[in-house]
Amino acid sequence: MTHQRQLKLGAIIHGVGGNMGAWRHPEILSDASVNFDFYKQQAQKAEEGKFDLVFIADGLYINEKSLPHFLNRFEPLTILSALASVTSHIGLVGTLSTSYSEPFTVARQFASLDHISSGRAGWNVVTSPLEGSALNYGKEHPTHDKRYRIAEEFLEVTKGLWDSWEDDAFIRNKETGQFFEEKKLHRLHHKGEFFSVEGPLNIGRSVQGQPVVFQAGSSESGKDLAAKTADAVFTGQDNLEEAKAFYQDVKSRAAAQGRNENELLIFPGIGPIIGSTNEEAERKYEELSQLVTIEHALNYLGRFFDHFDFSQFPLDEAFPDLGDIGSNSFRSTTDKIKENAKKYKWTLREAALRIATPKTQFIGTPEHIANLMEQWFEEKGADGFIIHSSVPHGLDDFVEHVVPILQERGLYRTEYEGSTLRSNLQLNVPKNRYTQVKVN
Ligand SMILES: Cc1cc2nc3c(=O)[nH]c(=O)nc-3n(C[C@H](O)[C@H](O)[C@H](O)COP(=O)(O)O)c2cc1C
Repeated sequence: MTHQRQLKLGAIIHGVGGNMGAWRHPEILSDASVNFDFYKQQAQKAEEGKFDLVFIADGLYINEKSLPHFLNRFEPLTILSALASVTSHIGLVGTLSTSYSEPFTVARQFASLDHISSGRAGWNVVTSPLEGSALNYGKEHPTHDKRYRIAEEFLEVTKGLWDSWEDDAFIRNKETGQFFEEKKLHRLHHKGEFFSVEGPLNIGRSVQGQPVVFQAGSSESGKDLAAKTADAVFTGQDNLEEAKAFYQDVKSRAAAQGRNENELLIFPGIGPIIGSTNEEAERKYEELSQLVTIEHALNYLGRFFDHFDFSQFPLDEAFPDLGDIGSNSFRSTTDKIKENAKKYKWTLREAALRIATPKTQFIGTPEHIANLMEQWFEEKGADGFIIHSSVPHGLDDFVEHVVPILQERGLYRTEYEGSTLRSNLQLNVPKNRYTQVKVN
């Protein structure tokens, strides 16, 4: 499919936010993570801004040191089903782990959301980085490499189940009494290393064929998984140079799998801080940063390393040498932290504060933010962005002040092109594999 490349946008709805102290800010609803009206307002605001999708992150293990938002929040598929009925065009992407679920259940859940929303569902595939998750499922926590092997087979099964019914399988002929055509019903008969699934799935395909698959995880295995099976990647890159390298890397892995570069979209996450002047934006950043104590910052940093206790080290000495710690958890993130700490000679205090209260480049006036987004998009560091609102009213400011600039520049839609997530993301509807076999 050839088309003009167009900037895509997603909005993470993240309750009280990704900052340890944000819930204390006077303009933040302190129960936002379990407040349906807040989620509804954010989803409708993103739809007003013609966003492609809202995005719900998730995790399966908490302890006393977790981010306040993680302690008390909605399960993604449940909240997205509710949001489906108060929105009409925006995509609904939810995070679900392949390490602690069953493909049959997951295939059903996302297919159901896809029908409920008339073709707007997406699944953010994650492998669960925290060992404590195993305690909640009575299982052993698989290693990083094994988690990705499980994920690959899991996706193969889920996609197979989504094709159980050909698109015209349900005849529903009341006269003849024929509900469906038997030859258009297919069993998967999957027997693999990790899963044994017979099928068929007890729900058919939606108008977008299959839910859109996102992948979040940027290690070598994560990039390979995305290149083989995902429609989109959610990633976190600090600067354009890194973003371009990542983009190039993932797109060439996809090409090596025989895929076209338009079939896999790259979405770095950014947290714009917008002010009518640079000073106002800086002030917003400072206000929030001051709510984070050094203890919070150490806890926040420690979670990426599987809740490693950093308080045992002196704060104002060099970032400790951690060896392999972290590489079975958020590997791509912990590798980057270790590398940057060495490169920039961070002390532990500096590292913790930089990670817990990151100072984004996307801070300043709406024009500055639009310029950077345009540059990242044009220079192929991004096909789109997942916006997280890192300050109060962040999404509202973005929709009201940045979106119109992107629209004026012809980078971004003024109306939805279609009603499904695939149509808005300019992704093809995957043909049902069985129908395809017959046609060819
Ligand atoms: C940008 C980004 C977002 C992620 N979001 C989630 C999430 O919402 N829930 C989750 O359990 N893991 C999340 N992960 C973790 C990954 O799924 C994975 O378990 C972990 O990062 C290790 O994979 P990696 O080393 O390939 O990045 C995320 C990772 C990245 C890089």
